[in-house]
Amino acid sequence: MLKVPLKSHPNNIFLPRDPIKLGQSFLLSMAHSQSYPLSKCLPSQTEEEMENQKRTYQSFRHLVSTLPSVDGVSYLPLHCYNGWYASLPSLVSAMVAREHFKAQPTDVLLATCPKSGTTWLKALLFATVNRSSHTNSHPPLAALSPHQCVSTLESAVYINDRIPDLDALPSPRLFGTHIPFQSLPATVLDSGCRIVYLCRDPKDCFISLWHYINKLRAQDNIELRTLDEALEYFSNGISPFGPYWDHVLGYWNEHLERPQKVLFLKYEELMQHPKVHLKRLAEFVGSPFTEDEEKEGVVEGIIRLCSFENLSNSEVNKIGRVELAVGTVENSFFFRRGEVGDWANHLTPEMARRLEEITESKFRGSGLSF
Ligand code: A3P
Repeated sequence: MLKVPLKSHPNNIFLPRDPIKLGQSFLLSMAHSQSYPLSKCLPSQTEEEMENQKRTYQSFRHLVSTLPSVDGVSYLPLHCYNGWYASLPSLVSAMVAREHFKAQPTDVLLATCPKSGTTWLKALLFATVNRSSHTNSHPPLAALSPHQCVSTLESAVYINDRIPDLDALPSPRLFGTHIPFQSLPATVLDSGCRIVYLCRDPKDCFISLWHYINKLRAQDNIELRTLDEALEYFSNGISPFGPYWDHVLGYWNEHLERPQKVLFLKYEELMQHPKVHLKRLAEFVGSPFTEDEEKEGVVEGIIRLCSFENLSNSEVNKIGRVELAVGTVENSFFFRRGEVGDWANHLTPEMARRLEEITESKFRGSGLSF
């Protein structure tokens, strides 16, 4: 890959300019680029290797199918494992990841409870880490969804009965995950790799989840979840990778324990002061912005490139699809309003109070609040 010093390249992708106008031909060149992770990680395998991998998935599938399934605020039925809920495909993939993912000290793991702004943070992290290396003048984020740029362990890396060889990826390797802290692959802790956690007000997170799962249900002609039903499930902790509160607290406590290894961000703060928090993120992952970069507007350029308006209007996010453990999902499903406080347009004051009271009681004494 051609490495171009940030300052001297005339087409530098992150200097302020209109990112929407950038061309789509980049997709082809990305197939050969180091930035697009997974295409490089599936070397041709012998039939025996493929059979072994299939057997690994089958044994976990069997295990998960013996766990009772429950309805939840979800697209598929949820199974409870180790104190948290996930659909069968997600749980199987999480188990394969736990057994096979070998973290490296330079890895960065981006952890979130679903609908906390994963897509946004993936874009920001990817653009920040790769700001000085690219193959031509078209930024990857103009042609690929953030979920293709940063693959999620249990929904995109370990799927389709395959166990990719991730050693081929250049460092720092970036991965996403929704796996609760207590069930992360052991090598994540052992390696001392960095974790960036993004959380979001549970009321907005819930409303976002409700819309998302109903889009998936509508697509498959499954009866939609009413808001009342969904709230009941969510409040009782029965949501994908939930209970929401346990998910957040698991990473929060680890952040308090090891702040140099676990960065804790809030969607609302990122929205209010994007520059401050993007600079924190860059420093945390060992890629701080230089004074020259700041003067050149690189920080603002990345913020603009990854903004809701820009990403949601790009061709790939309007019409593209991404293959996940639960099936193929339209990229547009990851973009709805991208606002703080949209819950007020949906929740009655009683509903909001219910979530606030649960949050207050669960987070009491933790030092965490919204
Ligand atoms: P809303 O449904 O409230 O609009 P996730 O990426 O974890 O699945 O979360 C999806 C939520 O993040 C959706 O929230 C989506 O609109 C919002 N989102 C996606 N991209 C964003 C961006 N670039 N900036 C801010 N919010 C974004």
